[in-house]
Amino acid sequence: MAKIIGGVATTHVPAIGKAIADKKFNDPYWRPFFGGFDYVHYWLAREKPDVAVVFYNDHGLNFFLDKLPTFAVGAASEYRNEDEGWGIPVSRSIAGDPALSWHIINALVADEFDITMCQDMLIDHAVTIPMTLMWPGEKWPVKIVPISINTVQHPLPSMKRCLKLGRSVGRALESYPQDLRVMVVGTGGLSHQLDGKRAGFVNKEFDSLCMDALAGDPDTLTLYSIHDVVEEAGAQGVEFLNWMAMRGALTGRVTEVHRNYHIPISNTAAATVVYENGDGAERRAA
Ligand SMILES: [Fe+2]
Repeated sequence: MAKIIGGVATTHVPAIGKAIADKKFNDPYWRPFFGGFDYVHYWLAREKPDVAVVFYNDHGLNFFLDKLPTFAVGAASEYRNEDEGWGIPVSRSIAGDPALSWHIINALVADEFDITMCQDMLIDHAVTIPMTLMWPGEKWPVKIVPISINTVQHPLPSMKRCLKLGRSVGRALESYPQDLRVMVVGTGGLSHQLDGKRAGFVNKEFDSLCMDALAGDPDTLTLYSIHDVVEEAGAQGVEFLNWMAMRGALTGRVTEVHRNYHIPISNTAAATVVYENGDGAERRAA
């Protein structure tokens, strides 16, 4: 049976991709952020996942405002990146796991999630940058199942809905008969706002509150409406929805084993966490 080993969440701002391309790993501005991945590399080398389910939001490369699904699940054997216009190199492709994707899709629909199924799907920097941060080498040792959550075009799914989505994915993973070591990834955030009067807004207190609650009691965060999250975390801080879904997919006793937080990277509060998914199921009905 598949085993959910844990999760990683990280910021995905495009400037990180440019800094990687320019090899600024030890640059004084960037070191506090990149240094947060030393533990991630150790953890991944120890845990050796086979597959990563990646919750992220597309920024216009695959979905645009004319057609924007609330939840979309990739079911391709390969996911390509293309030039997104951020001045970052086009990434190499990432291998998919269509059989696992279809298992998750079937389980989600059975759980009454009306998702969009994508047998052809471009993945943007919200997937490729976290992949490069986690595995900076020449090859990626995992296949992925990308799950896109709309954090762009209102109305957005609620914090509660995204936590439930993650829990449904977690139950699907637990019922997958193949012996795979599965990790779950949530990308984006934390607090930031790119435009308007509050451009540059970050909120360290709210970010800390979210991270403090996420591992042990994520349900308390479902009390925040989307408007609350925009108010507290900024218009683009709603990318935290991807973190909620990641946490939902961790079905066991969850322990935060690593956290790094640094303000600012570009105009974003940058954060990285690692969760371990221990024994002791805490399954909840979706
Ligand atoms: Fe983003």
